[in-house]
Amino acid sequence: MDMDLDAHLTDAAAAVADASDLDALSVVDTDLLGKKSLLATVRSQLGEMEPDRRKEVGRRVNEVRTGIERLVAQRRAELAAGARAGVLEAERLDLTEFDLGRRLGHRHVVTQTWERLEDLFVGMGYTVAEGPEIEDEWHNFGALNFPPDHPARDMYDTLYVDYGEPQSTLLRTHTSPVQIRVMEEQEPPIYSIMPGRVFRSDTADSTHMPVFHQIEGLVVDRGITFGDLAGTLEAFTTAYFGSGFTSRLRPSYFPFTEPSAEFDIRRPDGSWLELAGCGMVHPNVLASCGLDPEEWSGFAFGFGLDRLALMRHGIDDLRELFRNDHRFLEQF
Ligand code: PHE
Repeated sequence: MDMDLDAHLTDAAAAVADASDLDALSVVDTDLLGKKSLLATVRSQLGEMEPDRRKEVGRRVNEVRTGIERLVAQRRAELAAGARAGVLEAERLDLTEFDLGRRLGHRHVVTQTWERLEDLFVGMGYTVAEGPEIEDEWHNFGALNFPPDHPARDMYDTLYVDYGEPQSTLLRTHTSPVQIRVMEEQEPPIYSIMPGRVFRSDTADSTHMPVFHQIEGLVVDRGITFGDLAGTLEAFTTAYFGSGFTSRLRPSYFPFTEPSAEFDIRRPDGSWLELAGCGMVHPNVLASCGLDPEEWSGFAFGFGLDRLALMRHGIDDLRELFRNDHRFLEQF
């Protein structure tokens, strides 16, 4: 009987080790420790044994039982850990994109353009200013010489924010409100650029997006003329695009500049592209900001920043800049 129990422990260890999952282990558990197990049978026979033998066999049965219980518990822990790892692996979400061998990220083409423009104007002595994307009606329109209900407001498909009085708060439709903030906050001379995100309720197509970027320029000083504006934009064109490009100014209208113009560039293939609105800061705008138009004059311009990026890289669809497909973006 003792030999049987030793052999039984060895067999039991093998059976436990063979159990390949928790269900198989519970079957083995019942076989080895349940009511019909060898141990139960031996225990039921103890009563028929001599007292000494009973004591001896009884002790051995308990040892073997304890041994088997320990093996089963160990195996159960192992299998449970394995099952957990299996679940974790099966439910793992691979959030990394397919890697084409280029491991480092880089700046978005719009950001690159933004920074390049900043560098260029900072090199010409300008400072960089920013303003809020949610604006009040005064900074976006009123102070810029748009009288209430003036039809020029219809030039901008304004997205209003449900805050305060109706139509008092909006997503800025251009970066020009930052001109106002700069003039309110600092004394001339002012030589600043104001890059930022702007919003209009436009349907997305190859040349329009409801969210896009502009870079505004503002100069206010004594004796600033339209010639200074034209010269600045021409210098910008050569510096940004290279010597194959020239520019022109066409008469236009903005309530906040007088005279106003559109700035176009001529590409090496001879075609023209409209890139900015510009003009001499309207005396009413200077006065709104507490500046005496007799003493100060200035010019302003507003570029479509995304268009500059498209132009420079020969991209033909504005929407590509906002799709964030890394196969597209990693080209630039
Ligand atoms: N803010 C104008 C626009 O978004 C552009 C502009 C800026 C025109 C500065 C003149 C001067 O259309």
